[in-house]
Amino acid sequence: MKVMVIGGGGREHAIIKKLKENKSITEIFALPGNGGIAADALCVDIGAKDIEKQVEFAVANKIDYAVVAPDDPLVLGAVDELQKVGIPCFGPEKKAAVIEGSKVFSKRLMKKYSIPTAEYEVFENTRDALDYLDRAAMPTVIKADGLALGKGVIIAQTKEEAKAAVTSMMEDKIFGESGSRVVIEEYLTGPEVSVLTFTDGKTIVPMVSSMDHKRALDGDKGLNTGGMGTVAPNPYYTEEIAKECMEKIFLPTVRAMNAEGRTFKGCLYFGLMLTKDGPKVIEYNCRFGDPETQVVLPLLESDLFTIMQAVTNQTLDKTEVRFKNGCAACVIMASNGYPQKYQSGFELHIDESVKDSVFVAGAKRENGVLKTAGGRVLGVTATADTLKEALSKAYERVDRVHFKNAFWRKDIGAKALCKAEEN
Ligand code: AMP
Ligand code: GLY
Repeated sequence: MKVMVIGGGGREHAIIKKLKENKSITEIFALPGNGGIAADALCVDIGAKDIEKQVEFAVANKIDYAVVAPDDPLVLGAVDELQKVGIPCFGPEKKAAVIEGSKVFSKRLMKKYSIPTAEYEVFENTRDALDYLDRAAMPTVIKADGLALGKGVIIAQTKEEAKAAVTSMMEDKIFGESGSRVVIEEYLTGPEVSVLTFTDGKTIVPMVSSMDHKRALDGDKGLNTGGMGTVAPNPYYTEEIAKECMEKIFLPTVRAMNAEGRTFKGCLYFGLMLTKDGPKVIEYNCRFGDPETQVVLPLLESDLFTIMQAVTNQTLDKTEVRFKNGCAACVIMASNGYPQKYQSGFELHIDESVKDSVFVAGAKRENGVLKTAGGRVLGVTATADTLKEALSKAYERVDRVHFKNAFWRKDIGAKALCKAEEN
């Protein structure tokens, strides 16, 4: 079988490494992949958003199955186009990917089907939004409707900050058309949990829960990033909470999407906040999380490709999805300065002993030499029986990866460890 994976980050590297465990797969192509992924797949220089070229490539190379991993191609309809030429895919069609592509859509869906989430208002013109902010409680949360490279959420402490956020999104168009509508929502508090699930539109199977670390610096300080590290499972997510989420959030979401004629097949990601009034949805993603995938897939005991095909064929109810009992940790090594200005092009040295535990996000190969080429360069992972061991193994492995200007958080999993030891 020839499989193609669209995307080129750490998440895609983790997916590819897991797919390689399936012996029926003879070739894996990554579009575009990256210099690190090149060790595990054939990288093809076609961008993640270049759907026309992806389809051309898939047909010309007789691809048997495609995994569309990032949000952009899913929201743009890559799965629809690949299916039109007869290529089975893992990932939702465009009409279902809207659950991530439009926050207005997802908020209205949750309201209509009584799925717990923050109270909100939608605004289509600046004047109304600014007037509303005069009456709103602070802090408040401003969200651009469309995709905004993970930067479209602003938590405003004061009315001035909130108004500046609305003006920058709606008038100055800092996120382009994504900000032409905004959602202003209630500020919630509580521990956050990421739950990735497999769903074929009939059955939904949660994967092991995880915890992201979004801020750039230790102690959850500094700017928001794409994620600086993850642990799994998330110790705040008890069995009791998991049961409540299944009843009040996961199943109702699958049913709601079916009722809207937007059956979701793929990985549906629930970003949850465990508030004192119960778990609430902070965001839906129509794809695997990054860097959640880097801790969730190493704990997957069952075969990923078999599960993906079952999702496509809607036979997930007959397919085993089993996770190991242990824990996993991932530490992201970034270029100093990220998420703002940073330098790249530095030689990347990954000791042979840790190669299998490294998922490369931003690297390129130049004359056979691997060099940094991005803000988040790679994730170093480890699994073990306990979270404490997984974290210490991951940090030991970090010491065996070297590049100039590397920086990483030293406290990944610290909060989770405190909670786990309390449990
Ligand atoms: P992202 O959408 O991944 O850029 O990040 C959004 C982050 O903003 C979440 O992980 C939360 O930490 C925070 N957030 C989003 N919505 C709310 C809300 N209603 N109340 C409090 N925090 C929120
Ligand atoms: N880690 C958050 C995301 O993938 O959106």
